[in-house]
Amino acid sequence: MLDPVRYEWRGPFHNQEVNTLHAEAFEHRLFDDDWNDRLSRLSLGWVTARDDAGLVGFVNIIWDGLGHAFVEDTIVAVRVRRQGVGVGLIDAARESSAAAGCEWLHVDFEDHLKSFYFDACGFRSTNAGLIKLR
Ligand SMILES: CC(C)(COP(=O)(O)OP(=O)(O)OC[C@H]1O[C@@H](n2cnc3c(N)ncnc32)[C@H](O)[C@@H]1OP(=O)(O)O)[C@@H](O)C(=O)NCCC(=O)NCCS
Repeated sequence: MLDPVRYEWRGPFHNQEVNTLHAEAFEHRLFDDDWNDRLSRLSLGWVTARDDAGLVGFVNIIWDGLGHAFVEDTIVAVRVRRQGVGVGLIDAARESSAAAGCEWLHVDFEDHLKSFYFDACGFRSTNAGLIKLR
């Protein structure tokens, strides 16, 4: 039987766990970012997903300080993909962002993730814009 996955809003984590998961998810070298410092100062919250072997999913929820929350960096460990953990992260983020008083949850993503965000997570399409600054 699969390990049950536990989701926690603002759950504790070690920077190294998130750095490792992020490097695996976005296929880059291992960084040494201080996620705890940055998120505790700037984010509305985050969701951790854990099974008995450790951190298997993470999502950062940034915000405007009022009614708009934004999904940033939804990441799921390769070993548990396509088992509903990504949707579990977004469900928990959605519930907790609403409980924090937000009215809207935003996300942007590449074409290949349309099915994940639209069909599985329940986002609807909207116009959005982007400018590369550096
Ligand atoms: C995107 C990601 C978070 C999805 O996590 P996951 O736990 O595998 O997703 P779920 O199991 O909850 O997926 C639910 C449904 O979404 C869709 N889906 C999930 N991943 C998909 C993918 N890579 N391509 C197309 N559809 C996908 C499927 O319909 C899936 O249901 P199915 O498995 O029954 O077909 C994960 O693949 C990941 O970490 N990717 C690398 C990092 C990344 O690109 N993050 C998004 C940044 S915007």
